[in-house]
Amino acid sequence: MAETEASPAEMTGEAAPAKINLALAVTGKRADGYHLLETLVVFARHGDRIEVAESSEDSLVIDGPHADALKDGDLSDNLVTRARDRLRSHLRQSGKSAPPVALRLEKNLPVASGIGGGSADAAATLRLLIRFWNAAVSEQDLRVLALSLGADVPMCLESAPLMARGIGEDIEPVEDMACLPMVLANPGVAVSTPSVFKALVSPDNPPLPPLPATRGIAGMAGWMKTARNDLAEPALSLSPQIGTCLAAIRSSGALVHAMSGSGATCFGIYESMETARQAARQIGREWPRWFVAATETR
Ligand code: C5P
Repeated sequence: MAETEASPAEMTGEAAPAKINLALAVTGKRADGYHLLETLVVFARHGDRIEVAESSEDSLVIDGPHADALKDGDLSDNLVTRARDRLRSHLRQSGKSAPPVALRLEKNLPVASGIGGGSADAAATLRLLIRFWNAAVSEQDLRVLALSLGADVPMCLESAPLMARGIGEDIEPVEDMACLPMVLANPGVAVSTPSVFKALVSPDNPPLPPLPATRGIAGMAGWMKTARNDLAEPALSLSPQIGTCLAAIRSSGALVHAMSGSGATCFGIYESMETARQAARQIGREWPRWFVAATETR
């Protein structure tokens, strides 16, 4: 796959945290077919990782537990490669250098699973290469570059709690949110985001309820019970396994549970990391082929 491979000691890296939509309202549809959203997003300590090293030519190596899902595809189409190429063109337009790099993607997150794996990888690649190439890119240019790679890439640049509107690019940080003990579970079905949006019956839904003033674990779990993910119903109609996943999380002692993004990854929020770890073990025993991870939000 890659012709040059740097040793880990020579590599410098960046985390690509999983993105979790605690709630998501679809509030309209644009003329170009993209949907208007309002979504509360948090990021997990669990995620992919991107590493870079100097090289005489560009390369990308993918490893980690979910690498196989990407290996058969065209690597030039990978969001890591696309992020590298877009950033390089942007820098070269203003006469800056962006020499070849050996990239490594450690794919810990399931592919096409509603927790932003590809978007987080693209955002982490941008952050990492800006550092590695010692490049200066304005916030505005970075946002434009990120959005050109996907609607969720700008939010993944933040990797901290936020409310996103528009098609996902209009971002407002959410302060004082507790780190939420969480279990992520995916029943092993890849879900296509465009198909889920296509299966949505109405794009005109009410906005999310206002956030609570106190954003501790109990406060956020209480708020989530009043909120919703408008993509859950269409995703469930395409992949009924999502229902099994939600039921497994519900019966594992979660304070609240929901599906993230366009699915199929679902999550629960727990009172403590200890109860989250116990729940992950229970779900993993019951469903040994699923992706299950106990994690905490950042
Ligand atoms: O921007 P990204 O490539 O991640 O989006 C994938 C697909 O998801 C889009 O082509 C579109 O069909 C759908 N989408 C949407 N509204 C959004 C984000 C994505 O309809 N806000």
